Amino acid sequence: MSGEFFLATHYSQLTTHNSKNMSNGNMNLTLKVWRQKNAQTAGKFVTYKAEGISPDMSFLEMLDVVNESLVHKGEDPIYFDHDCREGICGMCSLYINGHPHGPKRAITTCQLHMRSFHDGQTITIEPWRAAPFPVIKDLAVDRSAFDRIQQAGGYVSVNTGGVPDANEIAIPKVIADEAFNSATCIGCGACVAACKNASAMLFVSAKVSQLGMLPQGQPERFRRVQSMVAQMDEEGFGNCTNTGACEAECPKEISLTNISRMNNDYFSAKLFRQEELHEQSHGE
Ligand code: SF4
Ligand code: FES
Repeated sequence: MSGEFFLATHYSQLTTHNSKNMSNGNMNLTLKVWRQKNAQTAGKFVTYKAEGISPDMSFLEMLDVVNESLVHKGEDPIYFDHDCREGICGMCSLYINGHPHGPKRAITTCQLHMRSFHDGQTITIEPWRAAPFPVIKDLAVDRSAFDRIQQAGGYVSVNTGGVPDANEIAIPKVIADEAFNSATCIGCGACVAACKNASAMLFVSAKVSQLGMLPQGQPERFRRVQSMVAQMDEEGFGNCTNTGACEAECPKEISLTNISRMNNDYFSAKLFRQEELHEQSHGE
C-alpha cells in the first residue's frame, strides 16, 4: 500500500467525508518540518505532503496521520510533544508559520484546527528556539529549566494541623480573580519562543504573582521572587525589553502586568530589604 493511499484511507476513518472527493473541503498541504536527531547534531527542514486533510482535524491529529504514513513506509516518525490535547498541560509546543502555537490567538497547538489553513498552503513547523530549551529531537525541546525555576521558589509553606475553615481567610474577589488569571499559565514556553531575547519573564512573573498576591503566599514572598529570578538568570534566559511579543502569543493571555508586579516585588526586596523586615515583624 502506498503512503498516499494509506493517508487517504486513514482520513476517511477519522471523518465522515469521502476523502476521494476533494469537493468535501479536504485539503492538500505541504509541510516543511524541522528534523534534528538531538541537540548535538545539526537539523534541517524536510518536506512532506499531507493530502486529503479534513478541516475538522486538529493540528496534532494531522501530524499523527503523517506519522502513520511515515511508519508505514519504514521511516522515522516526526517527534513532537503532546499530552492532554485539550489546552491544559502545556506540552504541545510547535512554532507554526512563525508563531508559537500557530496563527490563532489564545489557543494551544492541540486546540488549533486545520480549518485555520487553506488548500495548497505550505506550513512550516519548527521547535521552540531558545538556548535554555535545547532540542531533544525534531520538534521536542527540553523545558526542564522551567521546572528548576519553579523548584527555586514556586511554593508556599503549609502548617501542619487541622484543616482551616475555607472562609477563614477572606480574600477580596478582585485579588482572587487576578491570582487565578496568573495561575492559568500552563508553562508551555511560548512566551520564550516568541521573545527575541528568549526572556522567560512572563512565565516567571505569572508564577510569582499567583502566589505573591494571596495571603498564603506572603511568608516566602520576597525570598520567592529573588530565588526564582536568580534561577531564571542562571538558566540563561534573556532580559525583557518590553516588546510584548510574549503577551501577544501566550495561549492563556497572561498579562504583562505580571512582569510589572514581579519587578516591583524584586526591587522592593533588593532595595528595601523587605525579606528581613518581614522576618523581623514575624519573629522568624
Ligand atoms: S506565560 Fe503564557 S506562553 Fe508563557 S509559559 Fe505561561 S502560558 Fe505559556
Ligand atoms: S497537549 Fe496539553 S496543552 Fe496541548
